Amino acid sequence: MKTLLIVYHTGGVKTAQMAEAVARGARAEAGVNVVLKRCAEAGPEDLLGADGLILGTPENFGYLSGMMKDFLERVFYVCEGKVNGRPWALVVSAGQDGSGAVNSVERIVTGLRMEKRAEPIVALKDVTPEVLASCEELGAAFAAGLAMGVF
Ligand SMILES: Cc1cc2nc3c(=O)[nH]c(=O)nc-3n(C[C@H](O)[C@H](O)[C@H](O)COP(=O)(O)O)c2cc1C
Repeated sequence: MKTLLIVYHTGGVKTAQMAEAVARGARAEAGVNVVLKRCAEAGPEDLLGADGLILGTPENFGYLSGMMKDFLERVFYVCEGKVNGRPWALVVSAGQDGSGAVNSVERIVTGLRMEKRAEPIVALKDVTPEVLASCEELGAAFAAGLAMGVF
């Protein structure tokens, strides 16, 4: 069975809502083991055991959140060369921008040679029902792609 790992940080609640929506969508697809973890709980063994990765972070100070940076720092050299080509995607919650979080995460994960499989979902200010629906769709599409071996 394929495993989809969803790793997120939230300082409040919004990124958690997005990550949970991604997980909900993914769990609606049969045949994929969905693992949802906060950055602080996740480590290299989770990433090494995952066939796909979806990250969720708020934008803080024009950058990815400190906890997401810590997660990526802890996994980077352990996983480098071992996750090449595996699909990944990103959801971001931001007050008014989001591009700093997107760019900084993309730069780091590109260094892991993983393959971006969807455009980032960025929620500005409010996490609306439309945003949550997009997150669910992302999770469902990712899980279906993994289950069918499309990725
Ligand atoms: C310390 C801090 C720094 C922030 N910096 C930015 C920023 O640079 N750009 C932005 O658009 N929003 C910024 N925000 C707003 C958060 O990104 C926004 O409130 C987000 O929805 C929080 O998500 P969360 O509820 O998952 O923590 C910042 C918030 C905090 C607490």
